[in-house]
Amino acid sequence: MTDFRPLAHFTAVDTWLNDPNGLLHRDGLWHLFFQNNPHGADWGNMSWGHAVSRDLLHWEHRPLAISHEGPEAIFSGSAVVHDGRVAAVYTSAYDDGRQAQSLAWSEDGDTFVKDPANPVLDRGSTGFRDPKVFRYGDGWRMVTVEADERTVLVHSSTDLRSWTEVGRFSDEPGVGIWECPDLFPLDLDGQERWVLLLSVQDATGSRVEYRVGSFDGARFTGGPARSFDVGPDVYAVSTWTDAPDGRRVLIGWMAQPTYAGATPTAPWRGAMTLPRDLSLTAGDDGEPVLVQSFSPEVVAAYAHEVTGLPPAALLRCGFSGDATWEFAAGPDVLRLAVEGTDLVVDRSRCGDVGFHGEFARTDRVPLPAGTTGFSVFLDRCSVEVLAGPLSVTQLVFPAEPLSEVRTGGSARVEVLAERARQDAAPRATLGP
Ligand code: FRU
Repeated sequence: MTDFRPLAHFTAVDTWLNDPNGLLHRDGLWHLFFQNNPHGADWGNMSWGHAVSRDLLHWEHRPLAISHEGPEAIFSGSAVVHDGRVAAVYTSAYDDGRQAQSLAWSEDGDTFVKDPANPVLDRGSTGFRDPKVFRYGDGWRMVTVEADERTVLVHSSTDLRSWTEVGRFSDEPGVGIWECPDLFPLDLDGQERWVLLLSVQDATGSRVEYRVGSFDGARFTGGPARSFDVGPDVYAVSTWTDAPDGRRVLIGWMAQPTYAGATPTAPWRGAMTLPRDLSLTAGDDGEPVLVQSFSPEVVAAYAHEVTGLPPAALLRCGFSGDATWEFAAGPDVLRLAVEGTDLVVDRSRCGDVGFHGEFARTDRVPLPAGTTGFSVFLDRCSVEVLAGPLSVTQLVFPAEPLSEVRTGGSARVEVLAERARQDAAPRATLGP
């Protein structure tokens, strides 16, 4: 089977992964826990895998952190430092369908012991999950979802063991579920705004949405829901706790739950997005919108121009009118185009698209006003396009690594590669 393993994106060694969990920066290390089946490449036996990195790019695999056990699976959650110890707060998903919040403690950030008081928060519900804990004032807040009620619950605690509900946020009743909430402040022109991220599944598929609003420790009041990424393959995003320099760094499961179980990789299945730093700006309608940038650590590692297209590359694409960029290997072509005011990302002729009926697709999305360029990260099995508030992420499975770039119209492109992999390569800029 073709080896689709990406170079810059995190994957499990030889098993399944889905959501990032327990994102915590501590003592110079970025901890990435993740939903993992330690026994195979399909969803099941959910546990927390673990890896650490000093630069958000090179990850060291650590032993399984929290294992499924008897009737209890370990679903998504978060991690914080409390009284000098790492506390992982996760959902216990029991065989009988019940979902409740539990704790596991670690002195060293590697080895976890489940709290004897588990579960610490049980509402007798079957859709109560995905706790994200954060400091607020001198206590803790936790946001969770009642998934089927499309409701976010806010609980408060001082010791992480005893929790009191203080608020809730619901949208119009609708069909579908909410998962993986995250709630955090970001600055916009010297003012604190709060961003609520939610992973949403409904009849149109699965995606991440966000709202920008205010939070008073109990109630979140938000503006309209916006798409976090308008491609198909970003879900269950989450941000790091205690990132240095006030940064808000996010990573997500680079997948569409509809076909995530069918993607043609082995022995691993599932990858994370690249880490992205978040900020706020005023959108075309004057309302606040999220801006995503590849994290500076990744950009710095790829700050070296090369000829040709290496298997993992950061591209700076510029244009001044209609433009096309075709990334190709033999018959496989991934096509990016600017057509009028739209950006087109077309994977329908790029390699294996037949493993699921919904995989072959073309995304056509409006570019933010005034856009004259975007950043593209192309890795073995994915393309991520970022242009200010616009983000488009697609998985791709070309038989061979895309190694050729052909430009048309006003397209310009600079190809950058990781210095360590492409030492002494000459500088080059392709296109007019
Ligand atoms: C999102 C999700 C979460 C849940 C986990 C189980 O992808 O369904 O709601 O905690 O995955 O693996």
